[in-house]
Amino acid sequence: MNKYEETVKYIEEKIGDIKPKIAIVLGSGLGILAEEITEKIVIPYKEIPNFPVSTVVGHAGELIIGKLEGKTILAMNGRAHYYEGYDLKEATFPIRVFKLLGIEELILTNAAGGVNTEYKPGDFMIIKDHLSFFAESVLRGPNDDEFGPRFPDMSEVYKKDKIEQLEEIIQKHTGRAKVGVYAYMKGPTYETPAEIRALRTLGADAVGMSTVPEAVVANHCGLNVVAVSCITNMAAGILNQKLSHEEVNETANRVKVIFKEIIKEYISL
Ligand code: HPA
Repeated sequence: MNKYEETVKYIEEKIGDIKPKIAIVLGSGLGILAEEITEKIVIPYKEIPNFPVSTVVGHAGELIIGKLEGKTILAMNGRAHYYEGYDLKEATFPIRVFKLLGIEELILTNAAGGVNTEYKPGDFMIIKDHLSFFAESVLRGPNDDEFGPRFPDMSEVYKKDKIEQLEEIIQKHTGRAKVGVYAYMKGPTYETPAEIRALRTLGADAVGMSTVPEAVVANHCGLNVVAVSCITNMAAGILNQKLSHEEVNETANRVKVIFKEIIKEYISL
């Protein structure tokens, strides 16, 4: 049995005949949504064979299967990142497990820095596309044909109809919905001001250290991806102040209730 099958079998034994179609990855400080899930089965990552365990403060490390807004969902409360020392295949391992479990739609969330100077901390930006050519591809290496093609198309990783639906909801809740391009950086350093100026020139609106590897793997295996960034800080060099994980967590904490309402409404559609 390969690693994927081993993990799928373990999870299926825990959840029985529950068949979630939607999976959501909860990023930094956004774990509050997990509290709203009812009838839940909680499986700590460290108990799941082959699952990467997040070491970041603010990432709980639990897989939760249960009900939200009447829908059966699967939530990852916290994720593993490349900068923690995992390689990209390990960090994105759960995505293919989700595919094998029958998930059809993947909602990715993260905390990100605002590169677009019109953004403000606390804004929500739906990711319409990404930049990641500074990082190696998560799909480097022998292709697993059972998941998808060697050379996957990337022209609509983030599904347009989903972007529109989410934009409408965010606009209703905040009056400031943003739709933009996310630049993936490997971390764990925040970027330099020069890097941020370069990213802006290249067309980035936000920058962060997650999400893109998961979106690439999900797109490869045919999951519908929708992704949203909570802009927790202005990126390096925009304001005359240093960046810190505390600021990221503080902003995420400040907007977590509205974030939760947005996601709930989106899931209810
Ligand atoms: N840069 C990279 N990752 C981030 C940032 C940032 O400014 N804010 C939150 N995650």
